[in-house]
Amino acid sequence: MEKSEHQNWRSRKVAIVGAGAVGATFAYAMAQNGSADEICLIDLNEELCKGQVLDLSHGLPFYPTINIYAGSEKDYADADVIVITAGAAQKKGETRLDLLKKNSVIIEGIVDQITAQNSQAVIVVVTNPVDILTKIALERSGWDRSRVIGSGTVLDSSRFKYLLSEFFDVYVGSIHAYVLGEHGDSEFAAWSMANISGVQLDEYSRQLGIKDWDHEKEKIEHEVRNSAYHIIDYKGATNFGVGLALVQIVSAILKNQRRVLTVSYHLEGEYGIENISLATPCLITQHGVESIVGTELTDDEQNKLFRSAEVLTSEYDSLKA
Ligand code: NAD
Ligand code: LAC
Repeated sequence: MEKSEHQNWRSRKVAIVGAGAVGATFAYAMAQNGSADEICLIDLNEELCKGQVLDLSHGLPFYPTINIYAGSEKDYADADVIVITAGAAQKKGETRLDLLKKNSVIIEGIVDQITAQNSQAVIVVVTNPVDILTKIALERSGWDRSRVIGSGTVLDSSRFKYLLSEFFDVYVGSIHAYVLGEHGDSEFAAWSMANISGVQLDEYSRQLGIKDWDHEKEKIEHEVRNSAYHIIDYKGATNFGVGLALVQIVSAILKNQRRVLTVSYHLEGEYGIENISLATPCLITQHGVESIVGTELTDDEQNKLFRSAEVLTSEYDSLKA
């Protein structure tokens, strides 16, 4: 007998670990996006989790159909995507790397719970320092690298596009631009890949007669790299931009979009880099990262990518020493 439509239907489930500023904002944005059927929030702080779920649930009449609830580690078993936002966030003056020691212990504990549930999900690490924690999560899980990725520089790339859109006064959706490497202080803008609907920015700035374009580039890149520090100084945490960046990553997985995003992915020789996770353009499917979309970087950009890999490797090594 053929299965009825109802029997064939399978709920698309996202588990969010950490119901703080990032986890809750992501849940809110994800609920409005419509590509998930279930969102499950998990936090050590059960009161906080209950409060976030209740508040989010009061939006149910206004979202596409969705089920939002507080869960437990059992929910890892049938989740399609598990997004880890649990852990300490930067305080004023702290770098992302300062969080490594405390957050690595938290991530390892969560990954152990996920693997104990025999989960087939794709893990998306968000907790900082995201690249090193992605590597730690990958190693701890023993899973294929395609399924343990980090949010990488999807957020930084959107900050870059926003600033370019302001500078050139062009609709942000017509701008294609990427930040690569570490999600952190050694990240860099891949100017050779940046364009406005196919027109390279060097060419476009020449057309517009922009004076001292090289200096303007430095200012924009500096602003991108320091955006999070400014927001943390102003309001204590970043949450809206990252929430939306996560929606792009998670919906690309749930909908098998084959979308290219600069997630953090474990390199095994690509770009001449071994054994560290960092952000490069990756093709995202329902199974996580299918492949890297290789790009020809300039010598300067390639050196900056090596530099990011060095910084991350040395932090990882000092943690493990
Ligand atoms: P937050 O303090 O508001 O929330 C963190 C939550 O994690 C807390 O509610 C806490 O109870 C919970 N938690 C801690 N240990 C846990 C565990 N073992 N299991 C379940 N829950 C646990 O912090 P936030 O502002 O939401 O930031 C969370 C993390 O995300 C930080 O590390 C921050 O640096 C990072 N972040 C990353 C990006 C990015 O682009 N990668 C952007 C913004 C923030
Ligand atoms: C960000 C966080 C703090 O907003 O990593 O970039």
